[in-house]
Amino acid sequence: MTAHAQRYLDYCHNRRKPQLIIDTDPGQDDAAAILMALGLEEMGLLEVLALTTVAGNVSLHNTSKNACVIADWAGRSDLGVYGGAEKPLIKTLITAQHVHGHNGLGGMQLHKPKTPLKVLHAVAYMVDLLTHAEPYSITICAVGPLTNIAQMLSLAPEAARGIKEIVIMGGSYFHPGNVTPMAEFNFYVDPHAAQVVLQAGVPLRVLPLDVTHQALLTRERIQTLADMGNDNGPRLATLLDHYERHEQASLHAGGAPLHDPCAIACALIPELFEQKRVHAAVETQGQLTMGACVVDWWGKSKAIANVNWATAVDDEAFFELFNAAIAALP
Ligand code: BDR
Ligand code: CA
Repeated sequence: MTAHAQRYLDYCHNRRKPQLIIDTDPGQDDAAAILMALGLEEMGLLEVLALTTVAGNVSLHNTSKNACVIADWAGRSDLGVYGGAEKPLIKTLITAQHVHGHNGLGGMQLHKPKTPLKVLHAVAYMVDLLTHAEPYSITICAVGPLTNIAQMLSLAPEAARGIKEIVIMGGSYFHPGNVTPMAEFNFYVDPHAAQVVLQAGVPLRVLPLDVTHQALLTRERIQTLADMGNDNGPRLATLLDHYERHEQASLHAGGAPLHDPCAIACALIPELFEQKRVHAAVETQGQLTMGACVVDWWGKSKAIANVNWATAVDDEAFFELFNAAIAALP
């Protein structure tokens, strides 16, 4: 690791280890995020308490199965995986098989998971955990549609006391949408849930497309994973190769945006990201703008700022951290 990236890691050792719940819809970049978090746990930098799943990139059945498979890949069959919402609060579910493959993991042949899916619903799990947790202690990394989180905050507002912050991958403002001209996928799938979360009054960091499109997975960066001497590096390279080819073909960017791992990195080292405190809201009615974020960049509305909105990432350091985490896995 370069001295530059090491300096970021030095911050971590002087801080309390983040305890994470990862709310996710795996998804190829979700898989990368989960593996990154479990690798960082191996490195002694954070603790992953559970994975909670939601319908999004694919159906809940598939996102839950995939989460269990990914836990197995990391040798973490002990990890709690809880299934959550099958559909958005109000809208009909739309999925993204055209990006993530029919099963969400690039059509890869998957084994029957050893990690069991818990019987308890993800929302019930979060309510119970957060209500009994030390106040302001737990970070939620939300990297899928926000349906579970909105339900949790609506059903049990007192659970918010256990939350240190929610780090959300979703939305866009300066960057065009990736599912409609205006909207990012996670917010578009469940805009009503996104709006509930943005208005909940809990500490929020948002990693929008504005910043995830600066964390670009190039062919060279995929090769670094492929060359790792463990199982997970090459496996992830195969998965992300499928993802990168699709993103290149559809977005013509200089690489594929590695969206969801940004939320894990930001939960551990917020300093990797430049952020601005602003008021953000989600459009839930517009015909052309459904799911779009309206960010009050210059404080025009006088509405109280409700999010730390990420604008830039130190991508070299981010990928160093990502690689170190994946290399720490079996
Ligand atoms: C988000 O949409 C999903 O397809 C990805 O997993 C990511 O969470 C990016 O818009
Ligand atoms: Ca996702």
